[in-house]
Amino acid sequence: MHVIIVKNYDEVSEKAFEVMKEIVTSKPNAVLGLATGSSPIGLYQNMIKDHKDNGTSYAAVQSFNLDEYVALPRDHEQSYWTFMHENLFKGIDIKEENVHVPYGSTKEDCEAYEKAMENVSVDVQVLGIGANGHIGFNEPGTSFDEETHIVTLTEKTRQDNARFFENDMNKVPTHAITMGIATIMKAKKILMVATGENKADAVKAMIEGKPSIDCPASVLQNHSDVVVILDEAAASKLQ
Ligand code: F6R
Repeated sequence: MHVIIVKNYDEVSEKAFEVMKEIVTSKPNAVLGLATGSSPIGLYQNMIKDHKDNGTSYAAVQSFNLDEYVALPRDHEQSYWTFMHENLFKGIDIKEENVHVPYGSTKEDCEAYEKAMENVSVDVQVLGIGANGHIGFNEPGTSFDEETHIVTLTEKTRQDNARFFENDMNKVPTHAITMGIATIMKAKKILMVATGENKADAVKAMIEGKPSIDCPASVLQNHSDVVVILDEAAASKLQ
């Protein structure tokens, strides 16, 4: 693992952008694995700015997102499809037909998504990390062998997310579709970004702990090309 520690969120986003820019300029038809959440928003803003200022093109790029809620309409304001369009896709020239966000609830939906990725092979997978070490919707205890699958959201996760659904638990999705850990590990390169003190324990377990399903992100120690970009707070518990 190549661990880079910088001062704050903006510097993390800048460093992550440098890695991304190198990939999309050296390979204009790169396949990008993308994540939602607060961690990569700064990276996406840098990509949009660079596209506008310098013309870096995503016209030949394909994207595959990590995860999505089950049973939310695509255009629901809380869907990850909407998140990606609002925070990245609308600001760059990626073609809609090249955008892939997993969707569906069946085994066949999962297999089709896995197959689509296998056919192209992901050049770089952007990841954030949960405070409990999750990656994608792969919570602690998930086998490292899982490919794209449907997960039942824990009560805790649903309660944490209720604020995005008018605080109405009936509106909070109960399931999600996610790339599995084995899917994530197939990417040629992993670009993990993490900031804030609440990630410090998970970051320590990911980098210094023994790889274990107790911290799903620790599997990344078994990958040959991982760049982890941290701010000082997220790195504060490292030795
Ligand atoms: C996002 C995802 C999640 C997040 C993680 C960190 O698609 O799959 O694993 O990366 O929960 O979220 P933030 O960045 O909001 O702290």
